Amino acid sequence: MTSNDPLLQLYRLKHLTLKNRVMSTSHEPAYSEDGMPKERYRLYHAEKAKGGMALTMTAGSAIVSRDSPAAFGNLHAYDDAIVPWLRELVDDCHEHDCKVMIQITHLGRRTNWNKADWLPVLSASPVREAAHRTFPKTIEDWDIERIVADYASAAQRMQAAGLDGIEFEAYGHLMDGFWSQATNHRDDDYGGSLDNRLRFTWRVIDAVRAAVGPDFVVGIRMVADEDFDKGLSKEEGIEIARRLASSGKFDFLNIIRGHIDTDAALTGVIPLHGMPSSPHLDFAGEVRAATKFPVFHAARISDVATARHAIAAGKLDMVGMTRAHIAEPHIVKKVMEGREHQIRPCVGATYCLDRIYEGGGALCIHNAATGREATIPHVISRTDGPLRSVAVVGAGAAGLEAARVLAERGHKVIVLEASSQAGGQVRLAAQNPRRRELIGIVDWRLAELERLGVEIRYDIWAGVDDVLALDPDAVVIATGGLPQSPPLDAGDDVVTSSWDIIAGSVKPAENVLLYDDNGGHQGMTAAELIGKAGSKLELLTPERFFAPEIGGMNHVPYMEAFHRSGVKITINTRLKSVRREGNQLVATLSSDYAKGWHEERRVDQVVVEHGTLPLDELYLELKPLSKNGGAIDYERLIHGGDIFPAKNPDGRFLLLRIGDAVQARNIHAAIYDGIRFGLRI
Ligand SMILES: Cc1cc2nc3c(=O)[nH]c(=O)nc-3n(C[C@H](O)[C@H](O)[C@H](O)COP(=O)(O)O)c2cc1C
Ligand code: SF4
Repeated sequence: MTSNDPLLQLYRLKHLTLKNRVMSTSHEPAYSEDGMPKERYRLYHAEKAKGGMALTMTAGSAIVSRDSPAAFGNLHAYDDAIVPWLRELVDDCHEHDCKVMIQITHLGRRTNWNKADWLPVLSASPVREAAHRTFPKTIEDWDIERIVADYASAAQRMQAAGLDGIEFEAYGHLMDGFWSQATNHRDDDYGGSLDNRLRFTWRVIDAVRAAVGPDFVVGIRMVADEDFDKGLSKEEGIEIARRLASSGKFDFLNIIRGHIDTDAALTGVIPLHGMPSSPHLDFAGEVRAATKFPVFHAARISDVATARHAIAAGKLDMVGMTRAHIAEPHIVKKVMEGREHQIRPCVGATYCLDRIYEGGGALCIHNAATGREATIPHVISRTDGPLRSVAVVGAGAAGLEAARVLAERGHKVIVLEASSQAGGQVRLAAQNPRRRELIGIVDWRLAELERLGVEIRYDIWAGVDDVLALDPDAVVIATGGLPQSPPLDAGDDVVTSSWDIIAGSVKPAENVLLYDDNGGHQGMTAAELIGKAGSKLELLTPERFFAPEIGGMNHVPYMEAFHRSGVKITINTRLKSVRREGNQLVATLSSDYAKGWHEERRVDQVVVEHGTLPLDELYLELKPLSKNGGAIDYERLIHGGDIFPAKNPDGRFLLLRIGDAVQARNIHAAIYDGIRFGLRI
């Protein structure tokens, strides 16, 4: 039966038939190995293909030249060795009728000279790129010749690999560096008039067309409005779109609004949670109306309803749901099967993107299978081993995920939770109104547990007897942790924990010192809330810069809040002790660098963030009663086999401990524990 869902309509692009309107736009997950898309890369895209999307734009910024060294694991489009790897990936996706294209580029100034071959990094003019701290050299005539030829040979390689098409990247990179007066100060044939500023683009497309012929699909992901006073204006941007569209040389436009030369600007192009949804959709629709040309676009269109609207209202031809597919690669399949409500939501945390710079590979905050397709399945199948009864203690991220996976495998699961609500630290983090969407991590799991018939018993501070009363075959301890104080010479009893501020159980005082030596979201969230409450706040950290565990994108809204509420930030400084004097507190500060240096602060409140200590009492009590003494065989966990060593022949159940009940970590680690151990019972 044909569907009348706008998202599920066919789309004809040149000779290609795209089976629906949903695509993943180009994004480098930093899964490449030696610049090649090997098994991990292939399985990642194949999963999306299985999940029903019509088009996956592979790579993010695959590099055409050696003097465009990879900034975040970019594929080497300049290397012939890439062809067989891509062919394998294409074949796997084609098996599911998913078309595959690739984005190619010269990064221009958006990379660093001190990488790969240490070649100079270049741009239209020597204007510094703040995000990569690069001072580019001015591109010369011989550079232009060489790079134009590189584009052409890269395009040929992509065609040889069987790809369905390519797109050029033209925002924040070399190509659009010529377009924008902010980055092009030239007075030769490549600067000044719009005709001149487009000259490089025409040279590239002409060389590429000569190399791949007129039938190969070639599009461009282009900025059509840089959205700042010195940048490319909307009028010029739309004029460029018109010229490219009417040239007959391109097959689609993939529209971007904004600029990306600072982390703050990048969040305008790729907004996080707490920022507007689909902020540039209407603009992309304007470009489509002005050019009457195929238009693709992505920017926080994270739910199916908005995507459907984008197509139904004629704003886009293909809708990009990129992070949405990192969180849930099977969106289209679930829509087609009437299971839209089962789609795992992208909660906009942008842990994925921050990790390509900070952690070396994109991981979703709450889908641990993404990027681990070789070892962790996206669809959990029923076990063919014995069905067991499992008690999960704790309904935070780790416990909920373990319960979900165990129930999917057919086990009988009961969850015991101490508080009256599930969610643990995720619920706490979602107390920050700006990060409220995080609660989707909890709500999606609760809905799945209901569907799977898992019982959750609330308000039970489970002891050994409560667990034994269930007579379980296995016990999963996911009891989380509680905040601990940093090591102080004195004053543990007068400081306030960041959790109390976030939960709202302690109000921020007038004059506050916040000491964060954890470096993650907990301290920053407390600081944001204190600042927004109108308090005078000094944020103190012993690190070289504050919140080192938070990536560049997530840094942006915190810093915005700190500027707006006048938070003072002091780095490289420790909190040594706190004492009460009258109705105030006196904090003594010290330095790792200058022995004997001290300063004092007189404030109304000292808030501290120093991670958590595991709540492990129940685990320790259950250990001697268990078959495995709580032990896990890590070699087998990683390479396969029974992970529970037999330690105690009289033991009554298998015992394992996951998430922050083991050690203070983050949401992804808790979810990963939940699934990887849940799969092994
Ligand atoms: C990990 C990651 C890497 C990205 N790398 C690129 C890239 O190299 N080139 C590009 O054009 N866009 C890149 N993007 C941007 C995405 O294509 C997309 O525009 C962005 O995620 C917004 O769409 P969404 O809200 O649907 O995720 C990247 C995004 C992510 C999450
Ligand atoms: S990390 Fe956050 S933004 Fe990225 S895919 Fe997962 S839920 Fe979406």
